[in-house]
Amino acid sequence: MNPYRDDDPARPLPPGGASRLMGGTSPRAFAAAVRRIADCRQQSPTPRAVQVIDAEGAAALRGMGVPAEGRPLDEVVDQLLHDIAPWRAAMDHPRFFGFIPSPASPLSALGDLATAMHNVHAGSWLQSSGPSAVEAGLIDWLASQVGFPSSAGGLFVSGGSIANLTALTVARDRTVAPEHRRSAVAYVSEQTHSSVAKGLGIIGLLPDQVRRVAVDAAFRMDAAVLARTIEADLAAGLRPFAVVASAGTTNTGSIDPLRAIRAVCDRHGLWMHVDGAYGASVALSPDHRGRLDGIGEADSLSWDAHKWLFQTYGCGMVLVRERTHLAQTFHTRPEYLLDAEVDEEQINYWDFGVELTRPARAMKLWLTLQVLGSDGMGEAIAHGCRLAAWAEDELRTLEGWEIVSPAQLAIVNFRRTHPGLSAEGNDALNRAISRRALEEGHAAVLTTRLGGQTVLRICAIHPDASERDMRATVRALEAHAIAEIAAGVS
Ligand SMILES: Cc1ncc(COP(=O)(O)O)c(C=O)c1O
Repeated sequence: MNPYRDDDPARPLPPGGASRLMGGTSPRAFAAAVRRIADCRQQSPTPRAVQVIDAEGAAALRGMGVPAEGRPLDEVVDQLLHDIAPWRAAMDHPRFFGFIPSPASPLSALGDLATAMHNVHAGSWLQSSGPSAVEAGLIDWLASQVGFPSSAGGLFVSGGSIANLTALTVARDRTVAPEHRRSAVAYVSEQTHSSVAKGLGIIGLLPDQVRRVAVDAAFRMDAAVLARTIEADLAAGLRPFAVVASAGTTNTGSIDPLRAIRAVCDRHGLWMHVDGAYGASVALSPDHRGRLDGIGEADSLSWDAHKWLFQTYGCGMVLVRERTHLAQTFHTRPEYLLDAEVDEEQINYWDFGVELTRPARAMKLWLTLQVLGSDGMGEAIAHGCRLAAWAEDELRTLEGWEIVSPAQLAIVNFRRTHPGLSAEGNDALNRAISRRALEEGHAAVLTTRLGGQTVLRICAIHPDASERDMRATVRALEAHAIAEIAAGVS
């Protein structure tokens, strides 16, 4: 299997003293450093969910400079592990509930290490036929899980933002003639992730070419309002071209009515993109995939593996219903790449997306799925939905708490109110509860705004978080509320 012979001058050097890029580090010291980093990570997730460095510490790190003469590897690793790494939000802490947490599997980190050590260039078949074949197989499997047809294709990208940008670029090229770009209109909802508007801006739309369609009481795009808005734009001579639906909004986990949106798109010949960066993963849970009804009818889909597929950062996917559409947008043929041109059976991923040079991101998800199996992955995903339901259940036992959006796809939104306080006072109370939770460090619960009010938000997808964690977190929030009210809410 190894294409190199021992006497081959092209045979790669082991990471050892012979390499000028190792600063004299021996293979043994290198292996020991790898082990130390892995052990340290396994043994001690940071004790607090969020640790922010103080100004003095930050200035010291910033001012460290670069030594003219190199230092021993173990000394540098020491500094990395003890002086730098602890100062972060542990997005993979079981009680980190802010933003979309990232409970990354150590298996994914191992996949990262393996890919980095081989330094795979996954742009072309010539450079990475093995990893590219794995990527193609995984894309096929993921597409089949969401019900895309066999014509579908896609690629791994750095995350949801680039997945959305990639899909929207294809949507534009398929549906808008270049001379009509200024009158093209795209439709998102009030709850669509901000990366979509960013992507639309990058592909040339001005803010007045993006409509934010109202949502219903459950924070889902209102398909009737969407239809009316499109009709009004058509009547005004504009050119509607794409609707972006969400399968799992960031604020509440709501899933837009995908079939109704598909019907509206079909009526007017519009591209339907689904942003499933957060929620598409429930397609892998037999208990929850029914919630995504209609997702397989989309023209394109964003799906992040570094969210609810437990991958380290920099791992997302974009799928399109018809794989040839990707190359029609992104294929280029400069003379210096001609040696790597391929036939039908092979894929040059640099022809499918924005990046030319790209790491083999699929390999870490492949490694994780091979070890966990699809059943293990499905069960780990389903656990998140239970966690949010436990938090909601505990909140319902307490006085003074309002459930603003019930548990959906592992997210629940809620709010503490106090009779003596104004609307602004209650907003301040909820912000203060979150602040106190962060200061205490037991659990990270952040805020967002829904319906013009500040609310607390829990997004709980860590497979190692327990019912006890959820109930204790809610009770801790109540203790913070009581303390804040007693202190007079600042
Ligand atoms: C629904 C949704 N779409 C897109 C994104 C952007 O993804 P990324 O941060 O991976 O670029 C996020 C991030 O949280 C998200 O929740």
